[in-house]
Amino acid sequence: MKRRNFIRITGGGFVSAASVTAMGLASCSFAMPPEAIEAWRGPGPDVAASPDLRRWLLSYAILAPHSHNLQSWIADLATPDEIVLRCDLQRLLPQTDPFSRQIMMSHGTFLELLDLAARERGLRADITLFPEGLFGPDKLDQRPVARIRLKADATVKKDPLFGQILRRHTHRGAYELERAVPEQTWAALADAVKPWPLRFGHVGSRLGERLEVYRQIALDAWRIELSTPRTIMESYRVLRVGVAEIAAHRDGLSVLDPMVVLLNRVGLFDRSKAPLPDDYASTSQIEDFRRKLGSTPGFLWLVSAGNDRVMQVNAGRAYVRVQLAAAAQGLSMQPLSQALQEYSEQEKPYAEIHALTGATRPGHTLQMWARVGYAQPVEPAPRRALKDFIRA
Ligand SMILES: Cc1cc2nc3c(=O)[nH]c(=O)nc-3n(C[C@H](O)[C@H](O)[C@H](O)COP(=O)(O)O)c2cc1C
Repeated sequence: MKRRNFIRITGGGFVSAASVTAMGLASCSFAMPPEAIEAWRGPGPDVAASPDLRRWLLSYAILAPHSHNLQSWIADLATPDEIVLRCDLQRLLPQTDPFSRQIMMSHGTFLELLDLAARERGLRADITLFPEGLFGPDKLDQRPVARIRLKADATVKKDPLFGQILRRHTHRGAYELERAVPEQTWAALADAVKPWPLRFGHVGSRLGERLEVYRQIALDAWRIELSTPRTIMESYRVLRVGVAEIAAHRDGLSVLDPMVVLLNRVGLFDRSKAPLPDDYASTSQIEDFRRKLGSTPGFLWLVSAGNDRVMQVNAGRAYVRVQLAAAAQGLSMQPLSQALQEYSEQEKPYAEIHALTGATRPGHTLQMWARVGYAQPVEPAPRRALKDFIRA
């Protein structure tokens, strides 16, 4: 049986690709629903007209990258000129991010964009992290992640990275393999990290560097995540397949690939159980990821000397600055978090990528690893409405 013409579906059985396509192409839309991405047009007219600048700032902060696009931010506006940031504890990833390290990074990305937006409006954002005490190393709780006090201050400097917020997007597509990232461009990305105490590293300034070993670790880690039932199920729960699901949730991981949407539509993409290793749902993703890694001309990483909660938040701040700087340079990026994750099945790729990036001393932690390259533009990822993040 030819793989191209027949698809082995979850739970066994085969279906012809042509028949699935014929079942729905004519009647299906595969376009991102506009309301799901309206946040990327910037603050709406009501927000722009409001004398309370906090909503304006938050319109930018909610465009921050967040693991699995969970958008776990709650902004409490009860006190004037103040924003208290809490984590929505319903929006965590306990299997793939058991200590919520990436969730804390995803609060750092939010705080960095908030700070850039405040500067843009001549405000100083005094950010106190964990004002009621640090979370422990294992789990988060209801206490705030940060309290932000805003004050007009003529001396604050605008940051040109603000201008990249609406242009920054995670790019999961193919990159241009033949176009290496020049050394001065890597230097611009390294510069963006400087406000934060993380070590920036990269590989891929010259074509022909040994990138295969990085690609192989990323692929091995991805295979582990896909073939570990509890971790793939965690991703399945936040997959939004097709226009209706994306419009209803406006978060999570959007899937608009026509084949997957049609399989889902006719009930052949079963997200109630983990796929078997040779199901189309697994094999097609591995092959697709292998191709994309194969198209990648460079990788970057951020290593911290410790891994406490403050460091995790600051790693997120550093990461989004790198991604904004990359956008300014016309570069695309995609994090490769699987090998960095702290669940037991990832032990081997975790050790390999830590060794390869020199994160070998006790406590040294690889907070972020990403593929980097030039690519065609991609569509923005959904965001929920601004009001959904606000508690007044
Ligand atoms: C800490 C962290 C880890 C992430 N890990 C991955 C990853 O492993 N793979 C991936 O494709 N995207 C990853 N992302 C990107 C998010 O999925 C992305 O930010 C989210 O889907 C929203 O899309 P946007 O960045 O285009 O706004 C990560 C983002 C953060 C902040």
